[in-house]
Amino acid sequence: MTDLTLEFCGVKYPNPFVLAAAPSSDKEEMVARAFEAGWGGAVLKTTSVESEEVSLVYPMMTGQDYEGKRLSALENIDLISHHHIDEVEKRVRALKKEYPDNVVAASIMGQEKEHWQELVQRLEAAGVDLIECSFSCPHGMPEKGMGSTIGQNPDLVERTARWVKEAARRVPVVIKLTPQIADITMAAAAVKKSGADGVCAINTVKGIMGVDVYEMVPYPRVKDKSAIGGISGPAIKPVALRCVAEISQKVGIPVTASGGITTWRDAVEFLLLGARNLQLCTAVMQYGFGIIDDLKEGLIHYMEEMGFSSLEEIVGQALPNLVDHGALSRENEVVSTLDEDKCIKCGRCYVACNDGGHQAISIREDRLPEIDEEECVGCAFCTTICPVYCLEMKPPQKKEA
Ligand SMILES: Cc1cc2nc3c(=O)[nH]c(=O)nc-3n(C[C@H](O)[C@H](O)[C@H](O)COP(=O)(O)O)c2cc1C
Repeated sequence: MTDLTLEFCGVKYPNPFVLAAAPSSDKEEMVARAFEAGWGGAVLKTTSVESEEVSLVYPMMTGQDYEGKRLSALENIDLISHHHIDEVEKRVRALKKEYPDNVVAASIMGQEKEHWQELVQRLEAAGVDLIECSFSCPHGMPEKGMGSTIGQNPDLVERTARWVKEAARRVPVVIKLTPQIADITMAAAAVKKSGADGVCAINTVKGIMGVDVYEMVPYPRVKDKSAIGGISGPAIKPVALRCVAEISQKVGIPVTASGGITTWRDAVEFLLLGARNLQLCTAVMQYGFGIIDDLKEGLIHYMEEMGFSSLEEIVGQALPNLVDHGALSRENEVVSTLDEDKCIKCGRCYVACNDGGHQAISIREDRLPEIDEEECVGCAFCTTICPVYCLEMKPPQKKEA
């Protein structure tokens, strides 16, 4: 029997898959459909007090393709929801009534102490299960001293998290962090010090997706101007994994992961590095709520294959294997090894090794690559280039004999 339930900050999730605060969680009807499809929870798109003006611009999104494949990264210049707290209170009530076993979290952002505290109190009264505070939006909000302006300063993180925690009577408080800080563990440590219950890592990564080279305007174009936005999707997964791992290792506070999760394998990777909860945004926007079937089935299959009966057994299992660079073995002798049957003789490994490596690969007369074990230092660059995955790092054959 595989059990997909997992507790996060004292809240029990029917499964760890959660809609992140984003367009997919900005309507009651959408969240209801996601719950019907099998999602464990949702963080409703970030809301604010009624007096907060939210002035959206369009278009607000642009994507990055890579070698013809969509969508390796998404950039948005969206802001928090234009639905204020009065609307969100109603949604929380309705969703909790209809779906008492699903986790309904609300994301909030305020300018002043009174705003933060009012938001928490009203949402708590509406029956929300958990409060997430965005200290991390990289665009628009920082101009008002909100969003990542807070997340980039551990003192402001601690002060603001404390305000929220003070006002919360019942619900756990989670702080959503920005990766735009030299050391994210400083911000996570400030959250822990404030008494708040957990962190969400990470929000989008600040970036510019590209520039229209003829009109000389960056994307996304709003008339003849653009603004720096937040990057999400598969491209930011390595940054998110690193942040989750660093926080889990160095701070020891419950983490809900966000950033590039698309498949069950991504989900397992985040769990192995310490996440107790998994939020998805870009993948849901791109593929729809139905991806929950693949996520859950893949996770169950992995657990069965590995002999795990609960997710608790997975959380953090890879952390002891993440060490400082100086602690890595200097005696790991490996060389690139070719599976000749799989090779399509494209020559890309030869070019990569010749111009980006150690000139250890030559091309034979029959166009198959030949690896010189004496010259190969074992850097593994060729294995990252091969389009058919026919190169592997193995101990040198000569030494093995
Ligand atoms: C269009 C869009 C709107 C978003 N709005 C919010 C928001 O209101 N509040 C928030 O905390 N995060 C917001 N995010 C960030 C996501 O919740 C998520 O943290 C981020 O996209 C990284 O996850 P992903 O790679 O799965 O998309 C938004 C992201 C996108 C793409």
